[in-house]
Amino acid sequence: MAFSRVALLICTVGYFVIASAGNFHQDFDITWGDGRAKILNNGELLTLSLDKASGSGFQSKNEYLFGKIDMQLKLVPGNSAGTVTAYYLSSKGATWDEIDFEFLGNLSGDPYILHTNVFSQGKGNREQQFYLWFDPTADFHTYSILWNPQRIVFSVDGSPIREFKNMESKGVPFPKNQAMRIYSSLWNADDWVTRGGLVKTDWTQAPFTASYRNFNANACTMSSGTSSCGSNNPSSSNNNVWLSEELDSTDQERLKWVQKNYMIYDYCSDTQRFPQGLPSECNTA
Ligand SMILES: *[C@@H]1O[C@H](CO)[C@@H](O)[C@H](O)[C@H]1NC(C)=O
Repeated sequence: MAFSRVALLICTVGYFVIASAGNFHQDFDITWGDGRAKILNNGELLTLSLDKASGSGFQSKNEYLFGKIDMQLKLVPGNSAGTVTAYYLSSKGATWDEIDFEFLGNLSGDPYILHTNVFSQGKGNREQQFYLWFDPTADFHTYSILWNPQRIVFSVDGSPIREFKNMESKGVPFPKNQAMRIYSSLWNADDWVTRGGLVKTDWTQAPFTASYRNFNANACTMSSGTSSCGSNNPSSSNNNVWLSEELDSTDQERLKWVQKNYMIYDYCSDTQRFPQGLPSECNTA
């Protein structure tokens, strides 16, 4: 608690405004893939590609400690079976924290799976998986992470799909002390991805390409141990309301709708997997 108040205080005091909005040159480094990842259109577009020899990836220049982070992705079209596009926040070290979106490819016309997970202090096992209510390869859609001291909310086009609340009061560690970078990569995982590994990557379809645009971060960035909060978009209002944002009744309804109609796996319902009892955060009563 004391820590969140300190973070909040520091965040309200200093604004850190980066000169241009959503510019991939400004905000990200390509980290691997030997030319397969490209920043295009004066920094407005980033593409990752995968072929038989290698995938590719990028990471944020900044480290963030809390934020509301939006990115638009257009996933590998056509036969994307065997491919994974991962887009996540992660800290470093053996007791790392991580907030994951992973998009598991499929045969043409078959649905992608959106896989989510939350790690705190090196421990994950908190998977929830969803189908989407649109074709994520036909156009760009916005995938957002709200991460503040009270909750982590995953959203798709503004609809919350998952909320992971701070339940430290029940002894569940919550990510709040370790700064995270944004990472993304496109790679081959045909040993498990599509129908549990039954459908393999069709390399005659390579290269596979995923695209990114309109990165927007209202976030606290860490540099040399100091946090400063603001937006990467100079035209956005720098009010930091996201630091205490919660789901209103409309959001709650929407979350229920998505979970009822599109959730295909929830670790909190998987009693077989946890014979000794579901994890404490699952018992919300
Ligand atoms: C791929 O399509 C099959 C058949 O509709 C479905 O069972 C599966 O969940 C889909 N997604 C993945 C990643 O396998």
